[in-house]
Amino acid sequence: MKKIKVALLGFGTVGKGIYHSLKNHPRRISNIGFEIEIVSIVVKHSEKHQDFEDRKLITTNFQTVIQNSEIDVVLEAIVGKEPAFTYLSQSIKAGKQIITANKEMFAHHSRELLELAKEHHVEIGFEATTAGGIPVINTIEKLFQFNEIKKITAILNGTSNYILTQMRVLKLPFNIALEQAQELGYAEADPTNDIEGFDSFYKLMILSQLIYGKQPDWSSVNREGIVNITEKDIEEYERYGRRIKHVASLELQDGNITASVEPIVLSSEHPLYSIEGVENAVVIEGDVVGRITLSGPGAGAFPTASAMLEDLSLILQSNQVTKLAPILAN
Ligand code: HSE
Repeated sequence: MKKIKVALLGFGTVGKGIYHSLKNHPRRISNIGFEIEIVSIVVKHSEKHQDFEDRKLITTNFQTVIQNSEIDVVLEAIVGKEPAFTYLSQSIKAGKQIITANKEMFAHHSRELLELAKEHHVEIGFEATTAGGIPVINTIEKLFQFNEIKKITAILNGTSNYILTQMRVLKLPFNIALEQAQELGYAEADPTNDIEGFDSFYKLMILSQLIYGKQPDWSSVNREGIVNITEKDIEEYERYGRRIKHVASLELQDGNITASVEPIVLSSEHPLYSIEGVENAVVIEGDVVGRITLSGPGAGAFPTASAMLEDLSLILQSNQVTKLAPILAN
C-alpha cells in the first residue's frame, strides 16, 4: 500500500470534516491503492485546539510543511486571501499537490495559481470552492469538453438559501435563521460574505474562469445579498405561488460575459424554485446537450470535506502522483 502524507491548513468546520471523514473511513481511499495519513495540521491559534485528540499534529509553523519533503498533498481550508495564497504558492513551488476550499482566495488568484501549478507539474483541486458537495467543477472541467456553455444560473450560497427557506416555511425572523445557519456550520465565521452576496459572487467568478478562461470586470457585476428581504416580501410572493431565491447568473453573449448575483422572484416552473434549505443547484445550459441541473448540499463540514476528498482521490489516481507514490512508499 502506498502511503500518502498530507497536511491540513486550517482546522475550522471544514478541516475537522476532513479529519473525521478520514478517521471514520480509513479504508475508502485505500480501495484505489493509497493510504492517507494526516501528518500536520497548521492553525493560527494552537491554544484553541488543546482538547483535540491528535493535538501533536497541530502546529502554527507552516514552514514545517514546506520543509517536510514527505508531505505530498496540502489540503487548504483557511478563510480569506492571506495567508492562504502565500501558503499555496509556496506549496506548489515545493512540488506539492494542492486542494483548496477557499473561494475568496481562488476567485482572486485562480489564474496565477493554475499557471504556477502547470509550471511546477502539480495539480490543483478546487471542487470544494463552489457549491459545497456538488461535483460541479469536475463535471464542467471533464464532461463539458464538446459543449459550449452558454449560461449558468445557480444558487451558490447555502446560508442564504437556508435563511430564505426558514423565513418562508417556519416564519422565522432573519436573525434567528442566520443564527441557526451559523450553529449548523453553514455560515462563514463572519457571515457578512454569505448574506451580502460576496460568497456567491466569488464562486460565480471561479465558474467563469473555469468555463470561459476569464472573468467579467468585477465592477460590472450587480451583487446584492439577501439582507433587505423581509418576511412580508416572502409571504406576499408566496401568496402568488412564487419564491424569492438568491440567484447567481453567468452568460456569454457575443463574446462578452455578463454576470449578476441578486435575489430573484421565481415561479414554480423554474428549476431553482424547489431548491430548499442548505441545498445549492447549478443549471448548466450547453449548446448541444441542453439544460442540466446539478443539485445537492451546498455547505457544511462533511459536504465540503467530501468535495476535497474526492479531489484527493482524483489527484492520486492521476499520473503525476502515481509516479511519485512508489517513491514515497519506500
Ligand atoms: N458559507 C458558505 C455557504 C459555505 O453558506 O454556502 C460553503 O461555501
